[in-house]
Amino acid sequence: MAGAGISTDAGIPDFRSPGTGLYDNLQKFNLPHPEAIFSIDYFRRNPKPFYVLAKELYPGQYVPTQSHFFVKLLEQKGLLLRHYTQNIDCLERTAGIDPELIVEAHGSFHTAHCIGRKCRQEYSQAWVKEHIFRDEIPRCSSCDSLVKPDITFFGEGLPSRFFELLVEDFARCDLLIVMGTSLLVQPFASIIDHVGPHVPRLLINRMRVGESKAPGAGFDFDGRFGKSLHRDAFVAGDSDEACALFAGHLGWLDELVELRASHIAKQGLDLAK
Ligand code: OAD
Repeated sequence: MAGAGISTDAGIPDFRSPGTGLYDNLQKFNLPHPEAIFSIDYFRRNPKPFYVLAKELYPGQYVPTQSHFFVKLLEQKGLLLRHYTQNIDCLERTAGIDPELIVEAHGSFHTAHCIGRKCRQEYSQAWVKEHIFRDEIPRCSSCDSLVKPDITFFGEGLPSRFFELLVEDFARCDLLIVMGTSLLVQPFASIIDHVGPHVPRLLINRMRVGESKAPGAGFDFDGRFGKSLHRDAFVAGDSDEACALFAGHLGWLDELVELRASHIAKQGLDLAK
């Protein structure tokens, strides 16, 4: 399971880190509150801030991090059951992870729909992108309502794929790795409790998050709720460094470094620019 923290080393800000997080840097939009930029009610009234931000964050402008390639490596080793991400930056797809193994829990820019309640016409990513990059608000050719990328906004339901795969995947999971998320947004945050009661759970994050207030709900890193429940571990710090550390212990470090380097070479990217 992943959140915005696995993409900060690619240069994409997370949401809630004080100072650097997106929600501390939206003053220019004069929003009633930071999350309004991703709220469906606010978007219906004032879509401009979202589209300005979408242009800045638009997929295709960033290189996946070591953390994304660590997940790719897990796939190559046949160990990845599924990757649940809250991120809308598409960097998992860019890193080459099989889309079948990805659940984009908060949607993505991949498809878009008219938000007219009776219309719901589908639009392609290319069509929406053209509008966004021309600084135009995309509107439906049939009903003139707004056209919005299929990103899950506050006030909207998560994609059905999330709920369809969740039950079976989490029942089969034998190690849950959670990286780079504050675990503050539901229902994503609470799915950590859907794995079996003895399945080890590893949190890799800059800070401790998602801790229990009651037995069986959230992480219990210190065994506060008894030794029988003590199956959670926390690695503090940057996810790229932690992934490199684990890859090293597994004898995979060269492969991990090579995966990212060959992606950069194939794309003809010059990271020094
Ligand atoms: P947050 O910004 O809430 O949390 C990111 C977490 O990652 C924080 O705990 C950071 O300390 C940590 N972090 C940052 N950089 C890191 C790094 N390099 N290595 C390890 N940890 C790092 O982001 P999310 O939890 O993803 O929703 O936010 C969840 C949802 O809230 C998002 O999907 C978005 C937002 O509103 C929608 O857009 C619908």
